[in-house]
Amino acid sequence: MAKKILKRSWAENFKIKVVEPIKMTTKQSREKAAKEAGYNTFLLKSEDVYIDLLTDSGTNAMSDYQWAGMMIGDEAYAGSKNFYNLWNNVKKYYGFPYFVPTHQGRAAEHLVSKILIKPGDFIPGNMYFTTTRLHQELAGATFVDVIIDEAHDAQNLHPFKGNIDLKKLDKLVKEVGADKIPYVSMAAPVNMAGGQPVSMANIVEVYEYCKKHKIKLWLDATRATENAYFIKLREKGYQDKTVAEILKEMCKYFEGIWVSAKKDLMVNIGGFLATRNRSVYLEARNLCVVYEGLHTYGGLAGRDMEAMARGIEEMVDFDTIHARIGQVEYLGKKLLEYNVPIVLPIGGHGVFLDAKKILSHLKQTEFPAQTLANEIYVDSGVRGMERGIVSSGRNKVTGDHNYPKLELVRLTFPRRVYTQAHLDVTHESIVSVYEDRKKVKGLKMVFEPKYLRFFQARFEKLK
Ligand code: F0G
Repeated sequence: MAKKILKRSWAENFKIKVVEPIKMTTKQSREKAAKEAGYNTFLLKSEDVYIDLLTDSGTNAMSDYQWAGMMIGDEAYAGSKNFYNLWNNVKKYYGFPYFVPTHQGRAAEHLVSKILIKPGDFIPGNMYFTTTRLHQELAGATFVDVIIDEAHDAQNLHPFKGNIDLKKLDKLVKEVGADKIPYVSMAAPVNMAGGQPVSMANIVEVYEYCKKHKIKLWLDATRATENAYFIKLREKGYQDKTVAEILKEMCKYFEGIWVSAKKDLMVNIGGFLATRNRSVYLEARNLCVVYEGLHTYGGLAGRDMEAMARGIEEMVDFDTIHARIGQVEYLGKKLLEYNVPIVLPIGGHGVFLDAKKILSHLKQTEFPAQTLANEIYVDSGVRGMERGIVSSGRNKVTGDHNYPKLELVRLTFPRRVYTQAHLDVTHESIVSVYEDRKKVKGLKMVFEPKYLRFFQARFEKLK
């Protein structure tokens, strides 16, 4: 008898028009490449990678609409029409009147930190992001994590693990005084927690608290449309609102945002800050000239700004986000079928493997996540990245490693780039490494740069 169809699958809302061939590699060549890269997946040549899940940052496939926009780049030094197109869409979709373009997200973080922070200040935030925290520290602040405890537990099923714990925030305010806290640095969703979202209810609570204590509230809106998508799916009262409406509602509560356009906006380069505070804007616009370029291009070409403007229109489309997060879920669920420990709930931009659990025989100072990322690369050419002790860096005061509870390998999904077959190759490789996990030996760090060490550190295999 013919099989009955029991379910109806979803598929992407696009078809492929241009392809980029990838080099097929052998296990032997990958072993050599991994060694030459000091067992750091950031130091591999992209040519030696088969399926690149290092990051979703700037690795996206632009649409034909975006590419068409590249052709109408107005490359005037000052006052490019693409700058105005982008500004209009920032106003329309994020709701902020003022806007300054930057070459990428960390450049906007740099400007915001420089403007708002005085040496000796404290910045509370939900977990942390590497470049965000570093810019805050370089401006003289001490970062304090005020995320809810659930976020540090990979298996906890809380639907909004990115939320800020008001009690932790209040404790800090009581300890150091509100005048030492220029702003609360909220990210939605939280990258380092596994792409975990923040609820609208939490945003409102934090907003009310900050208002009472005269503390500003700023948002890292780098993947905010994914956060809006999760609010639509998980938070009561939002099912009938569009992602665009939820995004705008989220932004209402913040004085300003910074954004790496290399994610949500589906471009290869770009960033910006936007605010409703005119004096912050004027200072940012002025500093932009010092560090980025004139305030009407901020280190970008006119064509890049046009691609960003068009990316904003596409990013809020429900089917576009659904296709992206659907891929992440597909890989996550496949891994769960084989009992591979991953961060739950499955997040927005990637699947995060729980390396602490998978390589439980390694000490954290033997870099389990760094090790696991390498094992997977050598097995199949799938490149992920470490998000654990290496990424977490060192304690500013004691000089010892920070020891984060989460020791993860992130497999991040470039938007509109890979097919389901690529994901099958990926999950089969991970399951195979998982089955052989007991044989795996750790690493020692033999080169450590001062800032953001995970990008350039080198390792050797322990015997
Ligand atoms: N904020 C968040 C939440 C990010 O994920 C990133 C970058 C930035 C800020 C900085 O933006 O790279 O444009 O300067 N995240 C990348 C990643 C690098 O792989 O997660 P950028």
